[in-house]
Amino acid sequence: MGQNRFKPLAHPRPCTMFRTAPRTAAPLLAGAVVVGVVVAGAALIAGSQAPLSPTSRRQEPTAAAHTPTLTAAAAASPALPGEPITLGEGDLLTGVPGEGPLTSDQLDAWLADPANHRPLDARLPLGLAAGQGAIQGLDNNPLTRAKIELGRQLYFDPRLSSDASVSCASCHTPDLGYAADTRFGVGIEGLEGSRNSPTAFNRILSARQFWDGRAATLEEQAVGPIANPIEMGSTHEACAQCVAGVAGYQRQFDALFPDGVTIDNIGRALASFERAVVTGTAPWDYHDALRAFQRNFAEDLEYLEEDDPELYEQYQRLQQQAAAHPLSESARRGGELFFAERSGCTQCHVGANFSDELYHNLGVGLDQEDEDKVDEDIDWGRYVVTKQDADRGAFKTPTLRNVDQTAPYMHDGSQATLAEVIEWYDQGGHPNPFLSDKIKPLKLTKQEKADLVAFMKSLTGPLPKVETGRLPK
Ligand code: HEC
Ligand code: HEC
Repeated sequence: MGQNRFKPLAHPRPCTMFRTAPRTAAPLLAGAVVVGVVVAGAALIAGSQAPLSPTSRRQEPTAAAHTPTLTAAAAASPALPGEPITLGEGDLLTGVPGEGPLTSDQLDAWLADPANHRPLDARLPLGLAAGQGAIQGLDNNPLTRAKIELGRQLYFDPRLSSDASVSCASCHTPDLGYAADTRFGVGIEGLEGSRNSPTAFNRILSARQFWDGRAATLEEQAVGPIANPIEMGSTHEACAQCVAGVAGYQRQFDALFPDGVTIDNIGRALASFERAVVTGTAPWDYHDALRAFQRNFAEDLEYLEEDDPELYEQYQRLQQQAAAHPLSESARRGGELFFAERSGCTQCHVGANFSDELYHNLGVGLDQEDEDKVDEDIDWGRYVVTKQDADRGAFKTPTLRNVDQTAPYMHDGSQATLAEVIEWYDQGGHPNPFLSDKIKPLKLTKQEKADLVAFMKSLTGPLPKVETGRLPK
């Protein structure tokens, strides 16, 4: 797995002259305590010692979110209907056309094209498409090609960190399923947090972010790591100043947002990029779509060719696609078991993205037999946000799409393989006073365990083609 690690820019130029944040190497939770996102009050504070600057103080989320994001170009053109687009396909993430570092001429041409400012009417590919109604965040932050592209540049740009060494992609690497293959996130100067980097794809189907859901929106989440002392180690003010100091960025922000470069707009652009990163159709989806069709038209299948040639054509297409993405017998059986009451998996891993977006205690991280372990040493997850005992040790249900690409697993990266995860469920998690009542010993056979793993591996679809360079000077 290690051979595909993301390589940052060869010689990124740090923005150290703007760095104002005192840094602490205290091994705190990745983002949890340090960033101190006060969800309800919507105050995003960059570390307790960091000064509260105008850029690091967030506005009321709704007020900020309603700020129009029309560009000069878009505002000048008559209201255009949204451009229908299927995310995960095509050239949405392949950057401004051209090669090498972005030039100002290329950017000017890009920004002058009204098509790049037209709101996109986002559709999801087969599989995820079942979640179309659950799409999050576009009302307050409409997708446009220009905003997605700006977010792409920011996502891959290590200059957002205090020493220009770490970008979002360092811990959410496209080649590693937008996650990382380390147990914990590794930030500036090799500092480690205590949580595993979750995937950054399919965020369009997720409202609250982080393992404990402490960020109410993806916009709010996106600016968290920037000011986290052990992730990107900067401050929101320093980061906004750094971005504004890059002429190519300044140009784009001025064209896209009425108030130009601000930390909130950096969050909007990053969130737009992330929402465009979705998993494509997996072998399981083709198989599932074919089965659904066969179920729906069971009696009529043999007359379909005569009665409804169009529908028949659709049927043939589904058959061809399923044949082109074969599913092993083991994966089929695993799918049956996964969706059956006996395994109980879909009590939580439900819907198009296989997540209920809720928090559950499986006992992960509560199994270390350590006499000296005191309450403060334990990551209590959602409880830290809600202070409700019922939330102790509860973490957000992760997606299972492309899960084969995102080892290690669980909020603390404590489980190395999918087989290990299944063992955990088979034993009924780890007993603790707050264990979810949905978790019970399963008594699976060896074959059933292997089947569940095969099923999860059949949930891997293609990720969109993405340009990882082409940053502005
Ligand atoms: C040092 C590694 C690191 C860097 C750099 C980093 N992240 Fe993360 N990211 C993490 C970890 C660890 C978590 C989980 C933290 C938690 O839940 O408390 C996380 C959580 C997230 C989530 C939440 C996903 C979910 O399922 O709730 C998103 C989205 C995300 N990061 C995007 C980004 C973006 C955008 C950037 C750049 C601005 C970034 N990350 C930079 C390690 C990193
Ligand atoms: C009670 C809700 C619930 C049930 C039932 C459940 N899960 Fe989970 N699943 C979760 C939560 C919550 C996590 C993360 C837990 C943590 O990190 O503390 C998780 C984590 C996982 C992971 C690791 C994913 C990653 O990216 O780290 C896999 C794989 C998984 N579950 C598969 C399954 C399978 C297969 C079943 C059925 C045998 C199942 N789950 C049943 C809620 C559930």
